[in-house]
Amino acid sequence: MKAIEIRNKYLNFFEKHGHKVVPSAPLIPENDPSVLFTTAGMQPLVPYLLGEKHPQGTRITDYQKCLRTVDIDEVGDNRHLTYFEMLGNWSLGDYFKDESIKMSFEFLTKELGIPVEKLYVTCFKGDEDCARDEESAKIWKEAGLPENHIYYYGKEDNWWIAGEEGPCGPDTEMFYDTGKPACSENCQPSCDCGKYVEIWNNVFMEFYKQKDGTYTKLKQRNVDTGLGLERMAMLLQGKKTPYDTELFVPIMNKLEELEKIDDIQSRRVIAEHLRSSMMIISDGGRPSNIDRGYILRRLIRRMIRHMNKLEIDLGEISTLIDINVENLKEMYPDLEKNKETIKHVIIEEKDKFVKTLVKGEREFDKEMKKAKEQGKTEIDGKVVFKLYDTYGFPPEVTSELANENEMKIDLKGFEKLFKEHQEKSRMGAIQKFKGGLADQNEKTIAYHTATHLLHKALKIVLGEHVKQSGSNITEERLRFDFTHPQKVTKEELQKVEDLVNEQINKDLKVKCEEMSYEDAKNSGAIGLFTDKYGDKVKVYTIGDFSKEICGGPHVTHTGDMGRFKIKKEESSSSGVRRIKAVLIKE
Ligand code: SER
Repeated sequence: MKAIEIRNKYLNFFEKHGHKVVPSAPLIPENDPSVLFTTAGMQPLVPYLLGEKHPQGTRITDYQKCLRTVDIDEVGDNRHLTYFEMLGNWSLGDYFKDESIKMSFEFLTKELGIPVEKLYVTCFKGDEDCARDEESAKIWKEAGLPENHIYYYGKEDNWWIAGEEGPCGPDTEMFYDTGKPACSENCQPSCDCGKYVEIWNNVFMEFYKQKDGTYTKLKQRNVDTGLGLERMAMLLQGKKTPYDTELFVPIMNKLEELEKIDDIQSRRVIAEHLRSSMMIISDGGRPSNIDRGYILRRLIRRMIRHMNKLEIDLGEISTLIDINVENLKEMYPDLEKNKETIKHVIIEEKDKFVKTLVKGEREFDKEMKKAKEQGKTEIDGKVVFKLYDTYGFPPEVTSELANENEMKIDLKGFEKLFKEHQEKSRMGAIQKFKGGLADQNEKTIAYHTATHLLHKALKIVLGEHVKQSGSNITEERLRFDFTHPQKVTKEELQKVEDLVNEQINKDLKVKCEEMSYEDAKNSGAIGLFTDKYGDKVKVYTIGDFSKEICGGPHVTHTGDMGRFKIKKEESSSSGVRRIKAVLIKE
């Protein structure tokens, strides 16, 4: 069964069971600067798991684009992926263990046709925070699972939480027996040998873990489930790795055709990182040296390094992107819409990296020889940092180069220097920010408010994909950078301008409220910063028109701002447009 068929079966099945199908949230969380990427289907649903009413009701199902980078170094083996799709169904204070388990059992055995003999499950063993989950085990048995296919484990295996604090609870996990011989007498679902593969996780979310480590009960009992699509496709197709499924076969074949050196691990890294990079860029991500931009940069650069290693002509990137778009567009239509932007961004990043790649590799060779002569088995953190800072080598690239020469890198040493370096840039940025605020006067304050109006107007006219990627204000003008794949037309600019002036003419009241970040997010305010917010944030509301988390200051009424005029619209970098605008006092 192809991945897309599994996805469709899943959504149809849960729709039939009263769930509303909602679209995937973007890979880059909206209004949530506390996480870099969406890592689980539940993430966009947190407010509703905490009790807010979901507009679509209490039964939700979706497929969610996810990216997890904890195992980035492992990509290339036969199972780790950074990007993956998670199918999920949720009960927001609706059904609980009984219906959830029965639906999972029916879906796995009837819809996907997995024989009961191949299914194993695990339940929570119980501890001082929460009782042993015999209820789930009983429901599994009633559904038809033999007792000796049910195992109990503690929090390390059968408890789910995203991060340190938040909604959580015991879970019941489903495993598929691949039929591989048991690795020992003790071989069981928790074993890592590959005989049992986890396929689905139903979390019975009725707790909230506080910062201090204690648990309280949530207002409502929820179910949060997640099924990894690539893995399920691989198992149902009887393949050994996700790279052998239709999701990767075309790109893997092309790479094999293009490579001069045969290395399946490198081929997988290229195929995997290319797909992830395309998905991130399609959702508005751009390479940079911080946060999510840096993750994207690492993915692209590691891919380039491996292409170089296999002596694949880097000019082929465009063809590789075409192949992936063609293969994946049915599942992700946005890839086709954003194809040119994706190409631009990846090729631009490649061009940047290629300039230093060869020099950096030479530098690495020199340092490696030196270290070997000195009898060292590790490349110094300082060298790793120099390769990063001067040649743009992400540490995992240096680490791989070291491994290929039977050496290691001093990652701790690197991280220390990296942190120091980041701290310095942050201080620089704070300095600049303070300088900016000190400069506040009537004119810059009005431009600040105009920027909010412009941001919202762009979203209305061009679409919700518009995201701020930079802003700069002087006494003379505002400059605003935002993600948008093509030139903004004259007509669109006129509409934006009119919309902003309309708000100015309405003399809207600007209101400032302080609230917790959570409340701000729930109120629908747009958040702009990638840094974590403090406990309290300020939310500025302009009439009914715009709502943003922002430090201010702003005008109190829009009436006296002047007439808004767009002076220029141009490209800022690939996929990012820049508008310069002025306020004219008449
Ligand atoms: N949140 C759980 C997971 O990520 C189930 O969706 O596995």
